[in-house]
Order: sequence, then C-alpha cells, then structure tokens
Amino acid sequence: MSYVITIDGPAGAGKSSVAKKLAAKLGIKYLDTGAIYRAIALILAKSEISPDNKDFLNEALSKIKIELVNNGVLVNGFDVTGEIRTPEVDALASLYSAIPEIRTALLSLQQDQKNYGSIIAEGRDVGSVVFPDAKLKFFITATPEARARRRYEQRIGQNQDADYDRILQAIKSRDEYDSNRKAAPLSIPDGAVYIDTSDMSEDEVINFILEHVKEALS
Ligand code: DC
Repeated sequence: MSYVITIDGPAGAGKSSVAKKLAAKLGIKYLDTGAIYRAIALILAKSEISPDNKDFLNEALSKIKIELVNNGVLVNGFDVTGEIRTPEVDALASLYSAIPEIRTALLSLQQDQKNYGSIIAEGRDVGSVVFPDAKLKFFITATPEARARRRYEQRIGQNQDADYDRILQAIKSRDEYDSNRKAAPLSIPDGAVYIDTSDMSEDEVINFILEHVKEALS
C-alpha cells in the first residue's frame, strides 16, 4: 500500500535536505512543492506578468506546463532546476505563491504525484491543503537565527556570496509574508508532529522522523 508523508515548515528549517534523505532511506519519491512555486514564479516574472494582473495571469497559467523529472523541474520543456535557486527567485516565489489562482492551478500537479507510489512531500501547506489525509505529518521549524546560520553555511559551502544579516532579514520577512497571506498561510497542519530543530543535528531530525514512520507503518 502506498502512503504519503508530509513535512511543512518555514523557509530554511532544513525540510528539503531532511525530506530528500528520508525519501532515499525509505525508498520512496521526494516531492519538493517549493520548486514548483519557484518555477511558476520565475516564468511569470520573466513574462512580465505581475501577480495582481488577474486577466493575463489566468491566461498564462493555462499555457504553462510544469513537469517534475528526476528531482528537477521543467517549464514548457525547459530545465529551470538551477535557475530557481537564487535569492531573487526566493522573493518571487514568496510573492507569487500568495495568489489563490496560482495555488489552485498547481494543486492537481502536486496531488497527482501520489499516483506513482509512496511519497514524502515538503512545503508550506502539504499536510493541510494538498494531502490532508496523509499517513504521517510533520511540522519542522527552528528559530530565524538558526535557519539564517544554516542558509549562510550552505551558501558558503556552495561558494556563493553570503551575508548573514541580509539572510536573517530575508528569512524574517519571508516568514512574515508566508504566515500572513490570505491563501493557505503557513500553519501547523492538524495532527502534525511539531519538531523544533534549532538544537538538533540533521541526523537527529531524520532518526526522530524515522521512528515515527516505522511505528506508523508497522
Ligand atoms: O520551500 P521553498 O523556499 O523552496 O519555497 C519557495 C516559496 O514557495 C516560499 O516562499 C513559499 C512558497 N511555497 C508555498 O507557498 N507552498 C508550498 N507548498 C511550497 C512553497
């Protein structure tokens, strides 16, 4: 029997890395819903369609095809996997993902992924809106300072420019925006296990979740 595990939480809480590693350990598919929002934001911004231009927006949404392939994302056949991981796209994704029409347009793409086997889905509303009947739900968070430090170290590790204070500020404003938007604001889904990872290593988080998964599947 296939099953769905969801991980929600704010930016920089370590969801992606944890979800990716858990998917590998469990031998199931990883669904990065943030990548889908990033891809749509990138293409809409490139097409100069602003989030409040509802007429153009609906027409554009009907023409955009997003595909998930081997942990990458294609927009109308073009691979944007690398291009969506920039601070500019961080901000654009936050802006465009607040628009209800965009969220509705992306819902079935996300939900369809469970038709191909068990998945671990990660995002902001996967446990509440996308997969409300998931077998197991987690909410992973950490203080803004702990998340900023991790993002900073990740960027330095990838030889990218990094400024801790700017990253912290960006995280705080994204939290504020993602939590207060009208459409699917960041919230703890009903029945989710809450994990504050500020003082936990990644392995500790993974093992903690694995214990829950083993129990639920046994
Ligand atoms: O997790 P991420 O940083 O890649 O997400 C990018 C943006 O997309 C983030 O600002 C919130 C939004 N998002 C969302 O609204 N719903 C999701 N399920 C996933 C991401």
